[in-house]
Amino acid sequence: MGKCQVISHPLIQHKLSILRREDTSTKNFRELVNEIAMLMGYEVSRDLPLEDVEIQTPVAKTVQKQLTGKKLAIVPILRAGIGMVDGFLSLVPAAKVGHIGMYRDEETLEPVEYLVKLPEDIDQRQIFVVDPMLATGGSAILAVDSLKKRGAANIKFVCLVAAPEGVKKLQEAHPDVDIFTAALDEKLNDHGYIVPGLGDAGDRLFGTK
Ligand code: PRP
Ligand code: URA
Repeated sequence: MGKCQVISHPLIQHKLSILRREDTSTKNFRELVNEIAMLMGYEVSRDLPLEDVEIQTPVAKTVQKQLTGKKLAIVPILRAGIGMVDGFLSLVPAAKVGHIGMYRDEETLEPVEYLVKLPEDIDQRQIFVVDPMLATGGSAILAVDSLKKRGAANIKFVCLVAAPEGVKKLQEAHPDVDIFTAALDEKLNDHGYIVPGLGDAGDRLFGTK
């Protein structure tokens, strides 16, 4: 079973509380998603592999560490995942970015895929799928299905707010995918919204409602 890790750094908790408030403006919401994503990126990249490298300082030759250059890909689930990309890229600017477009049918709550555009060598990359919300888990599961169909094998899922129902479903469907979230909330309501949550992440990020 994949692990579900709540990243509860005080800076993340503080920023997430502002993000959740209904009176937070679109501008502030966007900035906060970006900042929290960067802080999460720092934590979820903890186990990136290092290798020895010999360097010359002004004083001496020394063997130090550098990233192995393992290829990374950040894959936002559209729309709301887009808000997390820049935060990740500020840490790993050379990462490639793939896109998976998906929306939830408001009646059935089932996800509908409308776009998949990925780096050609996605099968060789460590992938971070990013989406602020893991609610019923439908979108995340379909996104991972889509990636695996194209050969991807090394996938982590990073979100800001998760519902226990979605965590369970994603873990059951894809036990090899570790989940990282800034908060594990109480439950889903009858409309599939996370309680207390933060509302509709896409609409709040882009100001569409
Ligand atoms: C939101 C969110 C996730 C999905 C989570 O997207 O960004 O992708 O819902 O819900 P689930 O776990 O129940 O699938 P939405 O469908 O609102 O699309 P949008 O980002 O285009 O607004
Ligand atoms: N998608 C959202 O944007 N918010 C929720 O609470 C659930 C799904």
